[in-house]
Amino acid sequence: MAHPLTEKITQQLTQQQASGLLRQRKMVGTDPANVDFSHNDYLGLASSTELAQALYQGALTYGVGSKASPLVSGYGAAHQMLEQKLCDITDHQACMLFCSGFSANSALMKTLFDRTDVVIADKLVHASIIDGLVDSGAKLVRYLHNDIDSAARLLAKHPNNVLITESVFSMDGDIAPINALSALCQQHNSWLIVDDAHGFGVVDPRGSAAITAKQVDIQIVTFGKALGCQGAAILASQDVIDFLVANTRHYIYSTALSPANAYLAYAAIELIEKSPQLQTQLNDNISLFRALASQAGVKLTASQTAIQPIIIGDNTLTMTVADSLAQKGFKVGAIRSPTVPVGSARLRITLNAKHTSAQIHQLVAQLALLLIDQPNENP
Ligand SMILES: Cc1ncc(COP(=O)(O)O)c(C=O)c1O
Repeated sequence: MAHPLTEKITQQLTQQQASGLLRQRKMVGTDPANVDFSHNDYLGLASSTELAQALYQGALTYGVGSKASPLVSGYGAAHQMLEQKLCDITDHQACMLFCSGFSANSALMKTLFDRTDVVIADKLVHASIIDGLVDSGAKLVRYLHNDIDSAARLLAKHPNNVLITESVFSMDGDIAPINALSALCQQHNSWLIVDDAHGFGVVDPRGSAAITAKQVDIQIVTFGKALGCQGAAILASQDVIDFLVANTRHYIYSTALSPANAYLAYAAIELIEKSPQLQTQLNDNISLFRALASQAGVKLTASQTAIQPIIIGDNTLTMTVADSLAQKGFKVGAIRSPTVPVGSARLRITLNAKHTSAQIHQLVAQLALLLIDQPNENP
């Protein structure tokens, strides 16, 4: 008799294959697509020679591995330096590092909340937040995506609580009304938690548009997007971080972020600070893509960020269009449910500072050819 788990696995794989939802890895470099419009390396730092040298330098100076969890002996000078840098930029009092943003978000939710809490969150917050909240047992109530009136109604009904949003939404690229949410939270004696994964570093880290402790109580930043490397941090008041350090199981029972990676993230922030032209190039590329798409009749959403979704709706059709683009030499994200709501499967096109104008022209030309006669459902 087949093992019950074998049956379960076979059944699920068959179902996912049939509904166009079977996810598979493709090794980078073996794909015929050679111009990549799918990743989150918005400033093109993942392949920076300067950062490769920083990683080497960090490994030589601080070691390749942290050897233990932070509370044992895994917390060293490189970690402390990065934490201080992050606090200086954001004005938060204290910081703690994680090996990934997923782990930081889940750990934060699970440690901060329990079944006596009510948590208000945007309808589209990241899976890592939802998973952590489910683990915490807190009651989750969700407001309509980026809808300030809907958030206000829930805060009025559940004051003295916490509201959670992303800054730039990962699958839609739109920006949360942080200042308005912050004012609402203050009005209702509630904390604001912002997952700044796709915002941090994309705008000038010390510029007026950057998110800081002035607006948010707890901020999560990740290093795997604009910083081009790996890891994440939670930033908050000293009391909150002291509480999290003492109680977060993901932190206490896990090997600390490698010191070489901590130093790398530190170097990436310094590189961003001294290279404002990277942000200008990215913004120019976003504007060019949107202008060309509009001229070619390719329907986009209102997103003004590096994340430019093209909603197709049907899972299989979305995969077909992405595969056709790959054959023409362009890799774009193909996003299906449950990552996005059923019926809103999409191409997720991400611009970065290193794309050339010619590459963007060519991509839009291919999109126009492929999307003619297709139900491109964007407003
Ligand atoms: C909004 C958001 N938060 C958190 C994460 C997780 O970050 P990491 O990739 O560092 O695990 C992601 C990753 O895709 C994300 O999009």
